[in-house]
Amino acid sequence: MATLVQRNVSTFEPPGDGATVSRPSQTAPSPAPAADRAVKVRGLTRRFGDREVLRDLDVDIAAGEFVALLGASGCGKSTLLRILADLDREFVGDIEVPVRRAVAFQAPRLLPWKTVWRNVVLGLSDGNRARAEEALEEVGIGHRADQWPKVLSGGEAQRASLARALVREPDLLLLDEPFAALDALTRIKAQELVGELWQRHGCAILLVTHDVEEAVLLSDRVLVMKDGVIAHEEVIDLPRPRDVADPAVARIRGNLLDWLGVRHGTQGNV
Ligand SMILES: Nc1ncnc2c1ncn2[C@@H]1O[C@H](COP(=O)(O)OP(=O)(O)O)[C@@H](O)[C@H]1O
Ligand SMILES: [Mg+2]
Repeated sequence: MATLVQRNVSTFEPPGDGATVSRPSQTAPSPAPAADRAVKVRGLTRRFGDREVLRDLDVDIAAGEFVALLGASGCGKSTLLRILADLDREFVGDIEVPVRRAVAFQAPRLLPWKTVWRNVVLGLSDGNRARAEEALEEVGIGHRADQWPKVLSGGEAQRASLARALVREPDLLLLDEPFAALDALTRIKAQELVGELWQRHGCAILLVTHDVEEAVLLSDRVLVMKDGVIAHEEVIDLPRPRDVADPAVARIRGNLLDWLGVRHGTQGNV
């Protein structure tokens, strides 16, 4: 059954290029985006059948800002990410996102019949081996360029997935629980890598995670989603690199766990 959709999606090139592209919409295009903004979401509603998963949601992400999104399983985090990634258009509301976006999911989603470097530049019109190798070097697996995906470890495959996202030089990087399937040690290394890549590339990041500690260690701001809206936001104004043993980190973590309805002293995963 067709859903009645009223939406307006604007994509923009960062300042300098100045282009604004509007996709088919029933409302007038939004005004040119502010130079310092990566994402603007207003009144975003997404229903599945009778269920309203996102409910008149507003979100802003500044250019270059690292935002983590927490919330109970099934609360709509991936739904928001998929809309921002243009993988779902059945919504109501207005969003502004940069033209150059890239996404990485929990599953690396590499094509098994293509070598690692070809996976990295898949779909890029100007994707060549040198660009793929550069991205693979950056995530620490340059030596895997000619391998098949099946020989990669879980951590390596996730790094390849990150390389595939970075090679697109995104202004907005959307990460949906990218470390959730990794073992603890590999996850810590992957988290550090993402922190480094973010500092080097300067893109905005929206990281969906169920790991409260990860959110506090990496991000500028943490959003807590509940009942289809952003129920709480926490600005993490602490110097980097951050340490889980820092009492300030522990305090923010505890506060977020309260918002998530999880008691203190638990693992910190929701
Ligand atoms: N394509 C879909 N069809 C029907 N229901 C969906 C679909 N995608 C997600 N949902 C439902 O929307 C809710 C939010 O899903 P999701 O955004 O994946 O949650 P989260 O990522 O926060 O765990 C869930 O109840 C899920 O079952
Ligand atoms: Mg999800």
